[in-house]
Amino acid sequence: MASFHPDRPALVQRLRAAGCVYAEDEAELLIAAARSAADLTDLVDRRVAGRPLEHLLGWAEFCGLRVTVDPGVFVPRGRTALLVSAAAAVAGPAPAVLDLCCGSGAAALVLHGRLAPRWLAAADLDPAAVACARRNLDPLGVPVYQGDLFAPVPAEWRGRLDLVVANAPYVPSAAVALLPAEARLHEAPVALDGGVDGLAVLRRVAIGAAEWLAPGGHLAVEVSAGQAETLCAALTEAGLVPTVVRDDDLDATAVTARRPA
Ligand SMILES: C[S@@+](CC[C@H](N)C(=O)[O-])C[C@H]1O[C@@H](n2cnc3c(N)ncnc32)[C@H](O)[C@@H]1O
Repeated sequence: MASFHPDRPALVQRLRAAGCVYAEDEAELLIAAARSAADLTDLVDRRVAGRPLEHLLGWAEFCGLRVTVDPGVFVPRGRTALLVSAAAAVAGPAPAVLDLCCGSGAAALVLHGRLAPRWLAAADLDPAAVACARRNLDPLGVPVYQGDLFAPVPAEWRGRLDLVVANAPYVPSAAVALLPAEARLHEAPVALDGGVDGLAVLRRVAIGAAEWLAPGGHLAVEVSAGQAETLCAALTEAGLVPTVVRDDDLDATAVTARRPA
């Protein structure tokens, strides 16, 4: 409960005028986050200037959990709930799990609660994402490695992973400029840009997964609906057996791919 007395209607009006669709909800969240009236003014000024709400609050809600999100780090999207549930659905008992391209570590955080993994780790290239993921995952004893795709993962897990979850960047380079300013200006380009057709990183993930998965293990990734067919061809070429999963309500597409036993 704020110890000051914010002018809620004025706040909502400012947020709405700035294009915040859920202005009432945002106003309450910002009021709850502010330590003083001056702090609230500063938060609202930055929100109106286009900062993602989650970067101002320092957290995002994802699959019912509160995930710490630092400035510059990719904000977990609601649609990625499909990826997490598709991944959980193909995981066997006590799996060894890697959250690749982990960003804040949101997927690992949720999978830690949904599965009973015998080993769970996360990895990302971006030092800011790794620091953020560590803040989310250190308390659970989940290690977070920094480096390019599988390179920083301990070699002993090569060929032994049961599940690799990878929400890698998949926006085609030319489409990055068309993203909402919140993403374009406040999330790291490395979190968004997937190369010419958006699938450059995911093609490398597919090749790496074929090597790091145990026989019978699964890769789970997210793409746009229009990319699924091309991605499936790349997964097949890498020796994996893909299945497309779609959720129209979330407007989400995930692909799981099994390494044949
Ligand atoms: C779309 S964001 C997803 C983050 C997180 N998985 C989520 O769903 O919230 C993609 C992430 O991939 C990371 N990334 C991009 N290229 C990478 C690479 N070659 N190796 C490891 N991580 C990479 C970025 O730093 C970013 O954190």
